[in-house]
Amino acid sequence: MAHEPGFAKGLSIGIIMDGNGRWAKKRGLPRTAGHTRGAEVFRDIIRYCNELEVACVTFYAFSTENWKRPQSEVDAIMELLRSYLKEASKQVKRNVRLLFLGDRAPLAFDLQQLMESAERESEKNTGITVCVALNYGGRAEIVHSARELAQMAARGELDPDSIDERLFERHLYTAGIPDPDLLIRPS
Ligand code: FPP
Repeated sequence: MAHEPGFAKGLSIGIIMDGNGRWAKKRGLPRTAGHTRGAEVFRDIIRYCNELEVACVTFYAFSTENWKRPQSEVDAIMELLRSYLKEASKQVKRNVRLLFLGDRAPLAFDLQQLMESAERESEKNTGITVCVALNYGGRAEIVHSARELAQMAARGELDPDSIDERLFERHLYTAGIPDPDLLIRPS
């Protein structure tokens, strides 16, 4: 890949992390080997995007549907996430801003703590924004936004008639993150 300075400057890119299982199957390897490779490629992509001065890259890593996979596969994915989060401070030092999207409550407590500290430590960073969507889903996100707005209305803080697309957007997991200019599904 040729790195042309300024080529992708300011772009927002979304990447759906799929195709891992097929990558492994083609090579006669277990699916988890595909996820391990996926986690390595994830790190490479962040490095390339940073060099290309991409503004924001969002990885759709683990959907609400993915919990239905065999427990051993879910455990292996969570372990890969854990090892990435433990080394995330290296990226934080390189001025990367980290954000985690999705409902993190069902994730292990130590993962939630690691995510919070990576977000806190990187909140003032001005380089590339890396968003990792975990336990995400289109419908779950709509429910999340609707629930927050309903709670505000119930407390008398919001007139239901004032709800419009902009306000709804501000309560999505992706609030404040630019919409992707390019969505990549590598499968
Ligand atoms: C989908 O590929 C991929 C996943 C369900 C998990 C991706 C997550 C990781 C690799 C964990 C690490 C995450 C980070 C952020 C380091 P698939 O199994 O659906 O493959 P297929 O499309 O070929 O079936």
